[in-house]
Amino acid sequence: RPFDLVLRHARVATASDVFDADIGIRDGRIAMLGRGLPAGLREIDAAGRTVTPGGVDGHCHLDQPMAPPVRMADDFDTGTRSAACGGTTTVIPFAAQVKGGSLQSAVDDYHRRAEGRAHIDYAFHLIVSDPTPTVLQQELPALIAAGYSSFKLYMTYDDLKLDDGQILDVLAVGRQHGAMAMIHAENADCIEWLTQRLEAAGRTAPRFHAHARPMLVEREATHRAMALAELVDMPILIVHVSGREAVEQIRWGRAHGLQVHAETCPQYLFLSAEDLGIDDSYQGARCVCSPPPRDASNQQVIWNALADGLFTVFSSDHAPFNVDGPNGKKPGGEEVPFRHIPNGIPGIETRLPLLYSEGVLGGRITLNRFVELTSTNPAKAYGLHPRKGTIAIGSDADLVVWDERTFTLDNTMLHHAVDHTPYAGRTLRAWPGLTLSRGEVVWDGTTFHGRAGRGEFLRGGEPTLAPRRHSPRTGPD
Ligand code: URP
Ligand code: ZN
Ligand code: ZN
Ligand code: ZN
Repeated sequence: RPFDLVLRHARVATASDVFDADIGIRDGRIAMLGRGLPAGLREIDAAGRTVTPGGVDGHCHLDQPMAPPVRMADDFDTGTRSAACGGTTTVIPFAAQVKGGSLQSAVDDYHRRAEGRAHIDYAFHLIVSDPTPTVLQQELPALIAAGYSSFKLYMTYDDLKLDDGQILDVLAVGRQHGAMAMIHAENADCIEWLTQRLEAAGRTAPRFHAHARPMLVEREATHRAMALAELVDMPILIVHVSGREAVEQIRWGRAHGLQVHAETCPQYLFLSAEDLGIDDSYQGARCVCSPPPRDASNQQVIWNALADGLFTVFSSDHAPFNVDGPNGKKPGGEEVPFRHIPNGIPGIETRLPLLYSEGVLGGRITLNRFVELTSTNPAKAYGLHPRKGTIAIGSDADLVVWDERTFTLDNTMLHHAVDHTPYAGRTLRAWPGLTLSRGEVVWDGTTFHGRAGRGEFLRGGEPTLAPRRHSPRTGPD
């Protein structure tokens, strides 16, 4: 039987190798890699162009319920469309438990939001915000076994944060059942104390968001998260690491044999606190995220830690909020104090092109490292590898063919439903010329060819970044 598609003369890059090959695709999977493959029903000449595995965005927020009137601009339709046009073929957004609600109802609600809308494949992380005995003893173990094998815990934000005892409880369950734990590490009490002082002094413009979250707030919580994880012998992944102080803590933890993984995001390479405003203008609201972007020397620390192996994954942390327009100046149309500006910036489509341009073509990281950070490692961390995250026989044919060309980024080029990109005006040196999802061309460099509902839900299996340390899974118990 002929191949459905042969991608010819590709420069194939994986996390470990770069080689010239034709890629034979059948039934949505990679069926053969080799030179001079027989003709396929369809042929695409990749003539020496670099082909990488489709991106796995292990941290993004789509249609996540917010306290009204705030709402996310992207749902699973626009969010996964935008992802695909930027070379991402798998997204893992969050099903967030509401305090007082069950974890299962959050998962059910989130499936309803994704169903029939996603253009590319998706899995869910859980957010555990209320670890009641029922959650710890029944819901969480059952959900981990059913394919929701990663969860995020928050040390800040009133509606999500856990205290140290609760974090220990959840991590212990995660260890027993072989899950991956992501931790948002910022000291909530320090932030609240600083915020109240800033507010009392009338300092409520967006730029003061950064003043309320200095690096020590992240440093302390990062260290505490590692200590809690050490106590229960559970690997963790510290999300959205912003700069030197948290990086130093993670280096310390690694040097002491702790199983601590780390994630960073484009905002910590390409933005700084000045993007929140150098005066009290409201424009800076568009760059409010937590932890806040730091400065040029911290950007360099993040680049170094990407290159030298400290970071395990590079995610977007896409959190789509409009600054102008119907979703309002966050919220309601007026300029609100920084405390009430929803945290997070868009970036699901620009994640790969920014890192490919500035990291790979800029000579800061290798092509192999790019693949590892953006695709292979997130797939392993969240139990999706080797179906996702690599170019290998039997893996899904999720592929990106890169176009190396220089242009200036503008928000009108993007496919999200957000009214801005913080990266407008930047010069990029590459963009996906082709994105394939399970062998189907969903983006051809100019036009989107997806179809709402073609994206499939993926069950997250066991994380495979490290050997398992719990007893084998037996299913829900
Ligand atoms: O500011 C951020 N990062 N917002 C998104 C939510 C989160 O904490 O990741
Ligand atoms: Zn977070
Ligand atoms: Zn996030
Ligand atoms: Zn179990």
